Amino acid sequence: MNIRFINFSLCVLSLLLLTPFSATATAETLAVKDPEHTTELLQRFDNIVADPEARQKANAEGQERAQFCFRCHGKNGNSVRDYVPNLASQNPAYLFTQFEKFASGTRKNYVMSKLAEILSADERVAVAVYFSDKPVIPRDNRPEPDMKGQQVYQSLCFACHGDKGHGSHTYPRIAGQPYEFLEKTLLKFKQGDESRKNSPMTAVVGNLSDEDLRAVARWVANMP
Ligand code: HEC
Ligand code: HEC
Repeated sequence: MNIRFINFSLCVLSLLLLTPFSATATAETLAVKDPEHTTELLQRFDNIVADPEARQKANAEGQERAQFCFRCHGKNGNSVRDYVPNLASQNPAYLFTQFEKFASGTRKNYVMSKLAEILSADERVAVAVYFSDKPVIPRDNRPEPDMKGQQVYQSLCFACHGDKGHGSHTYPRIAGQPYEFLEKTLLKFKQGDESRKNSPMTAVVGNLSDEDLRAVARWVANMP
């Protein structure tokens, strides 16, 4: 553990202390323009999953709406291309905030930005119900993980993404994402890239070397 990691841990700790854990805080933590909208979608999601009949209906609707997504994100939410993230088991708050970010231009991707403008609130909720139920399947092209990656994960990432990388109501799941997506995304955060601006991740990875960043990406890609 070197001085850089200690500095980081302090920075992470202060971010955590500033983060209250409630539904509204979720939307605020994820820094979207309209936290109330996200909170409202999340409330709808929670009501639906608590009611078996509504859940089944939303699942069927979600599957119907998600047909178009399968081409890239896979039928069961395990993506078919390594630069595309899995949606399987992703937490719904994260899906909602990302749609909003794509729609507002804080996050940019040609297809997703267009899509985010046309999905209705009902469709967002149904698609989230559908994908959140699906398990993440380990990919067979994972790069070899090493202790370096584990060390970075355990000193920096676990605090928000959890010991297992499964995230929470507040933070995204990252475990088992394809290596290429992880590497590209972390580099974008580090470089303050336009396509993922205003993210708390920029401060988190700002001082990581590219080598450490790739090591932690290999580690996360192998997390079940
Ligand atoms: C042509 C391919 C393509 C299609 C079709 C597509 N996506 Fe995406 N999606 C992507 C890519 C690529 C990204 C990652 C963009 C980036 O790197 O920031 C993404 C990112 C996302 C994210 C953010 C996830 C994360 O972990 O950051 C969500 C949520 C999402 N897509 C939902 C959907 C839904 C729902 C549909 C169908 C209605 C859909 N996408 C259709 C390619 C696609
Ligand atoms: C202070 C809390 C915090 C810490 C510590 C943290 N993250 Fe994050 N992370 C977030 C938040 C919040 C997001 C959502 C970012 C956004 O919406 O722009 C995120 C997003 C991500 C994403 C994009 C996920 C996706 O599917 O789009 C990756 C990858 C990621 N983090 C990896 C890491 C790694 C690796 C570490 C350790 C080096 C780490 N994070 C440490 C809060 C944190």
